Amino acid sequence: MIDPDGLVESARQAFAAAADPAELERVKARFLGKAGVVTEALKSLANLPLEERKRAGAAINRAKAQIETLLEEAREALARCRLEAQLAAQALDVTLPGRNGSIGGLHPVTRTLERVEALFRSMGFASVDGPEIETDWHNFSALNTPADHPARSMHDTFYLQGRDDVVLRTHTSPVQIRAMLAHTARHRDAASMPDLRVIVPGRVYRVDSDATHSPMFHQLEGLWVGKDVAFAHLKGVIASFLCAFFETEALAVRFRPSFFPFTEPSAEIDVRFTSGALEGRWLEIAGCGMVHPQVLRNGGFDPESVRGFAFGMGLDRLTMLRYGINDLRLFFESDLRFLAQFR
Ligand code: DAH
Repeated sequence: MIDPDGLVESARQAFAAAADPAELERVKARFLGKAGVVTEALKSLANLPLEERKRAGAAINRAKAQIETLLEEAREALARCRLEAQLAAQALDVTLPGRNGSIGGLHPVTRTLERVEALFRSMGFASVDGPEIETDWHNFSALNTPADHPARSMHDTFYLQGRDDVVLRTHTSPVQIRAMLAHTARHRDAASMPDLRVIVPGRVYRVDSDATHSPMFHQLEGLWVGKDVAFAHLKGVIASFLCAFFETEALAVRFRPSFFPFTEPSAEIDVRFTSGALEGRWLEIAGCGMVHPQVLRNGGFDPESVRGFAFGMGLDRLTMLRYGINDLRLFFESDLRFLAQFR
């Protein structure tokens, strides 16, 4: 004769051991199915005497009901397990910092440009520009650069096919002429004419390419024309600009005599850092001088009544020094690993 309590107990264990719903249903069939243990037990009662059959039948039916309850519980437990596993797999840590899309930044040369413009603006210089395809006259002749000057050779200058009157400007100096002509046209009366004080940042082009030269690079031109402008002003402006730009007083500035066709006298500007990471040898950073009388005349000024100074420096060079960059080509390769450092 079957033991109803033992039956319930073995069903409980079998249900608990089922790892997933499919297995649970197979186990269920073993107990409650048509050929299951419970059905067999009920069938086996047929041969018992009536009283005993009633008692045993009732006991088996109670066991059957308990097993059905157990089955229901086991089904729920499995469903709960599955839900929990699913939730754990999809776990979302709301305390994690968000993943931002990356935002762009300014190119290091652009940062230098903006910085340079702000510093010169504070000294009263307006920022102007001119065309990158420049006339031969503005780029060379008006700047006293004769036809046989080496700067005009094909090795140095990009000429345009089929046009011999225009070039890709080799420096920002032609904008000196444009700025002077615009100024003298606007202020006809020499006596009341205000000083002309401009900087010209911009792209220039030369047939040149290595670690420190690129066929396209950036220059910064400066020009101050007025009644009492002297070389001393040039020195003062350059020295205060360099200290402000590099954020240090620990630098020496040297004006070394040189030659440019459009200035007289002319000098090259060297800078030497006397402490910090850049401490060391003299570095050449600009050309400069007092604007040549003929150049003033080409700009519409009377060289008898005004004088001026001009300078031209490399913006890329300034940027390399400020950020400690040793290869100019990095500026033009669009490598995000390089650029992202300046965000
Ligand atoms: N334009 C010259 C160059 O590209 C640099 C320069 C020298 C500019 C002297 C000036 C200057 O304004 O006065 O090499």
